[in-house]
Amino acid sequence: MASVTSLTSSVNQRLADALSAALPEAGAGADPLLRRSDRADYQANGILALAKKAKANPRELATQVVERITAGDLLAEVEVSGPGFLNITVTDKAITETLAARAADGDRLGVPLKENAGVTVVDYAQPNVAKEMHVGHLRSAVIGDALRAMLDFTGEQTIGRHHIGDWGTQFGMLIQHLIEHPGELAPADEVDGEQAMSNLNRIYKASRAVFDADEDFKERARKRVVALQSGDKETLDLWQRFVDESKVYFYSVFEKLDMEIRDEEIVGESAYNDMMAETARLLEESGVAVRSEGALVVFFDDIKGKDDQPVPLIVQKKDGGFGYAASDLSAIRDRVFDLHATSLIYVVDVRQSLHFKMVFETARRAGWLSDEVTAHNMGYGTVLGADGKPFKTREGETVKLEDLLDEAAERATAVVREKAEKVGLTEQEIVENGRYVGIGAVKYADLSTSPSRDYKFDLDQMVSLNGDTSVYLQYAYARIRSILRKAEGAAPVAHPELALAPAERALGLHLDGFGDTVFEAAAEYAPHKLAAYLYQLASLYTTFYDQCPVLKADTPAQVENRLFLCDLTARTLHQGMALLGIRTPEKL
Ligand code: ARG
Repeated sequence: MASVTSLTSSVNQRLADALSAALPEAGAGADPLLRRSDRADYQANGILALAKKAKANPRELATQVVERITAGDLLAEVEVSGPGFLNITVTDKAITETLAARAADGDRLGVPLKENAGVTVVDYAQPNVAKEMHVGHLRSAVIGDALRAMLDFTGEQTIGRHHIGDWGTQFGMLIQHLIEHPGELAPADEVDGEQAMSNLNRIYKASRAVFDADEDFKERARKRVVALQSGDKETLDLWQRFVDESKVYFYSVFEKLDMEIRDEEIVGESAYNDMMAETARLLEESGVAVRSEGALVVFFDDIKGKDDQPVPLIVQKKDGGFGYAASDLSAIRDRVFDLHATSLIYVVDVRQSLHFKMVFETARRAGWLSDEVTAHNMGYGTVLGADGKPFKTREGETVKLEDLLDEAAERATAVVREKAEKVGLTEQEIVENGRYVGIGAVKYADLSTSPSRDYKFDLDQMVSLNGDTSVYLQYAYARIRSILRKAEGAAPVAHPELALAPAERALGLHLDGFGDTVFEAAAEYAPHKLAAYLYQLASLYTTFYDQCPVLKADTPAQVENRLFLCDLTARTLHQGMALLGIRTPEKL
């Protein structure tokens, strides 16, 4: 594995060196503020501010910097423009050589591994036991999965935590019902996902109805919660059956999503049960939490509700029970002290952001979160229907995730089928690709918008071949693969001696920026930046393909060099899409 320094970093280094030679008082850290630019390859705007600070004339300083730059094989031209900008053009040779080094580095494409990699615990894909998953759970799963892949690619070690809702008072009702109607839950190994969910739904509804109508049952259910929390064996065994049955259902949905979930990372609220009393004790002893009306709570100066009354975080309820907050606080202790996390990310609906604000602040006061550990709630927005209102069925119910995924696959299959004959796809390939295109469409629509924003779930738009969709990217990939197959005799070979056409340079410079983009997107927890990069890559490729004949290029060397650009584009698209959790079929 050989990592490659990006052209941007190399140019930046040359400029920074020249800058500190021309203006020693600016020090080694002076930032030339390099940007990609339309006029030249790059523009550096940083000299203006530095000159101002040093009370120097910016154009003069810029000229001095240019005089001190070592051009070598890297830079073709550096020119001062406007009040003191620099326009920088790199050589064609540097572009091709850098890309050749990337091409020689397998799947990593020359992207280096982070130097001070840490451990990030990603809390995502956290549905609730005995409940249907909804589109909100879809967002968490899709965003979390992409973030993890991106972080892993940079060299960060990630640990997944699926903090499923598998604890709480509703289990008293469910378990009691099962005791009174033992035959209602089929063994988990005898059902598929759909049957599992329908069993659970039925039991949930039936027990709820009795719970609401029958005071005696309510009392029995309440006692059952106590038995559960105190670890009664029979109760725990029945509880486990609900969890197992739900997992059958979860796994079937995750499989539809083409997403790998590991059993050992499903660590739900219940897993922290044994820690909760201690968590409460530590908070009370340190004075972080106080008793108020019998409950153990934490107050915050800046968090107030109606009538300006403070809204506390409830660590322990009046009746001694622990809830959501206690499990999250205990989970922080586990993640920081046992998993040795340096970063915690929670991919959870933005409507829970107040909860996390209070949980993080409490953990900081308790000393469990320190300057060495960052905690971040990636609160994502709401999925909206085509009408711009929260996504519901016509009957006003939440949409079932599986129905949605099935429909996406169906529509995508129709799109794939239209071109199938021309491309020569078998029926099996049509169905398989249809599935990858459909799921990809759903994932990409989610990932290409900034996570904090709401987005419209519009299947027509998602499977459209035009515009910023995954289908467009998947087609771009398949088209390149088809050219590479057609090339037969000619192989992709880099020829650094060849001059590049403008469309080749633009494509090449963008290809070189893949690693920088992944690092930036991972550091900012912003998968949409990677999606935007890939979309631009496909667009630049389209322009290149329109302007530069590949197989019919003028010379054999040029054919090889263009095939080389095609190949690297395909591999970059493939890797980038894989980081977003999206497949790229070979033929489409
Ligand atoms: N199960 C919760 C829900 O469906 C999400 C859990 C989020 N993670 C956490 N650590 N609180 O709303």
